[in-house]
Amino acid sequence: MGPTPLEIGVLYDAWHEEQAQGPDHPLEPVGSGGGRRILADREEIHAALEKRGHKPRYLCLDGRAKSLKALASERVDVMFNLTESYAGDDTKDVNIAAYLDLLDIPYTGSGPSGLYLAQDKAVAKRLFAFHGVRTPRFAAVYQGRLQWAHDIQFPVIVKPKREDGSIGIEFNAVVGSIKELMERIDALHADLDSPVLIEEYIEGRELYVSVLGNDPPEALPIVELDLSLLPAGIPRIAGTEVKWERGTAAYRETRLSIARDLGGGLEAEIREAAVKACRVLEIRDYARVDMRLTPKGECYILEVNPNPWLHSSAEFAMAATASGRDHGDLIMEIVDLAMARSRAGRAWAPA
Ligand SMILES: Nc1ncnc2c1ncn2[C@@H]1O[C@H](COP(=O)(O)OP(=O)(O)O)[C@@H](O)[C@H]1O
Ligand SMILES: [Mg+2]
Repeated sequence: MGPTPLEIGVLYDAWHEEQAQGPDHPLEPVGSGGGRRILADREEIHAALEKRGHKPRYLCLDGRAKSLKALASERVDVMFNLTESYAGDDTKDVNIAAYLDLLDIPYTGSGPSGLYLAQDKAVAKRLFAFHGVRTPRFAAVYQGRLQWAHDIQFPVIVKPKREDGSIGIEFNAVVGSIKELMERIDALHADLDSPVLIEEYIEGRELYVSVLGNDPPEALPIVELDLSLLPAGIPRIAGTEVKWERGTAAYRETRLSIARDLGGGLEAEIREAAVKACRVLEIRDYARVDMRLTPKGECYILEVNPNPWLHSSAEFAMAATASGRDHGDLIMEIVDLAMARSRAGRAWAPA
């Protein structure tokens, strides 16, 4: 006899202006579509859970209070939490996790504290500094008011303090003069009305370390984004074009692979730094740590992404595969982590 099937909510967010006045099925998935196409992460997850004998069902928060109310009366054993925003606001994933806590529904991934600490990059960097996790020196400004500044050297990179997915990071984000710096700060304030982070630019390799589990967390094989083939004259960064703009040379010429040539000692050091960064930010279950490795072999943590994208083509899945887990194993392992936490009656990952 197999394990008891679990009722699993596959919780995600969708939000469109027009939907705010739309029809009445608050927790129905929108636009599941037909035909041959690449499956979305939630569809892969749904299929993997079903294949293992569980009972997944889609639940969608669409930005209306109605969908929040409907969630409160859902009976599931655990929620696979894929939400990243609420009503178009990327900072509100924190509130969704907090709401699930209030409802006493077990869910996968980080809790509100981990989501918050990782989301505010300036807060995360202060914690890194306190705990001896290497991160680029920085300054934070908002509308002409200085929140903090190290005595940093050019070149620097200018980015929004709270965005993700390289929003606001185009190739002109890396600047070498006061003039360009002031222009970038001004543009970011105008476009995003967000506090701005100015960081020392770290030349080096772009590495992503996936961390899985809690007791203790395990750093999976390191994934590298090779930026060496980017067209000449643009900085080697994973900016908006590289991540999203399919038609561009920047998108085409960058490749993900497992970094195999780091050397045992350095590789262990990098993995350890990633695990420590996750602990410091109270991350649970799974996360991806973005970092740069200098030619001298120093790794700098740029940010930690709690609940990173789990699609089978994403960095996290690539690392999991290299560690010997197939995609379905990975999905189940994440569910098991949430279930174990709920059985233990613990909100926190062990420190
Ligand atoms: N201090 C830095 N030095 C060098 N490259 C950086 C630095 N900060 C960001 N980058 C580049 O920009 C990309 C996106 O930055 P990141 O801080 O990870 O923001 P996001 O949350 O948008 O992913 C990184 O993957 C890296 O390529
Ligand atoms: Mg990043």
